[in-house]
Amino acid sequence: MANIAVTRRLPGTALDRLRCVHDVSLWPAELPPTESELRELVADADGLLCLLTDRIDHALLEHAPRLRAIANYAVGFDNVDVDALRLRGISLGVTPDVLTDATADLTLALLLAVARGLPQAADAVRTGGWHTWQPRGWLGLELRDARLAVIGPGRIGRAVATRAEAFGMQVELVGRNDDLSAALTRADVVTLHCPLTQATHQMIDAAAIATMRPGALLINTARGGLVDQIALREALVSGRLAGAGLDVTDPEPLPPGDPLLDAPNLIVLPHIGSATRRARTRMADIAVDNLLAALEGKPMPYPAALG
Ligand code: DGY
Repeated sequence: MANIAVTRRLPGTALDRLRCVHDVSLWPAELPPTESELRELVADADGLLCLLTDRIDHALLEHAPRLRAIANYAVGFDNVDVDALRLRGISLGVTPDVLTDATADLTLALLLAVARGLPQAADAVRTGGWHTWQPRGWLGLELRDARLAVIGPGRIGRAVATRAEAFGMQVELVGRNDDLSAALTRADVVTLHCPLTQATHQMIDAAAIATMRPGALLINTARGGLVDQIALREALVSGRLAGAGLDVTDPEPLPPGDPLLDAPNLIVLPHIGSATRRARTRMADIAVDNLLAALEGKPMPYPAALG
């Protein structure tokens, strides 16, 4: 029997499977453990099931001498310092595939909501700002024939492309070897689906925004760090971009009063891309499968590609 630290309650019954075999210490609160609370939680852990809100780095691992396997409850793992893991021979698992459809669905929901100004339209009805049907009222972007640049043609990017094509959009998949600027100049809508790394950090900065079509839309359901939020705010305020939909920001949540929140035609969601009952339950199943396998000395079924 091994000691397993788990940093949040999860949907479904996956943790019961873990408890049948191992000794589980579950962080009981809804908010993440602080750095020092996390250190305490992992002090005698052989395995760790953590979230994207938990920073796993050298400093933490110094306090976890027994740790040999980590299951990240996410497909992204930018919260984990992979060099620190490599150095200690700790394996890392992630939860791909099962959240692809949920995240792609949410991307299209955000795209449609921004393209048609849904929050503003709904607000107008609620607050008495809508007086009559207007031929020139609430004119938005029609998706048929609009050009969509999908930056990051991985599982989620391709699932977004399939959905967008069903709406009649002209889709361009943009990978790391493609010309990003050229793709940005062609797109009516740009949607981000790449991992956050040193190479992709703030890839959508002022210079990238300057190459986008005037009036284009930006959607981000990947990681907040991909976008320079100051540049994005300026582009929305000046009208250079017609709108943006963000499921992710840096940091999360944005502090109250963050200037980005006042930008026009901006929707910010609380990182709910994978938040369907099915996806989040299956993520728990996979995270537990990863840990159980690693602690039996077997390869994780869903290892992170550590590069
Ligand atoms: C992930 O898995 O990386 C998402 O951001 C959360 O589901």
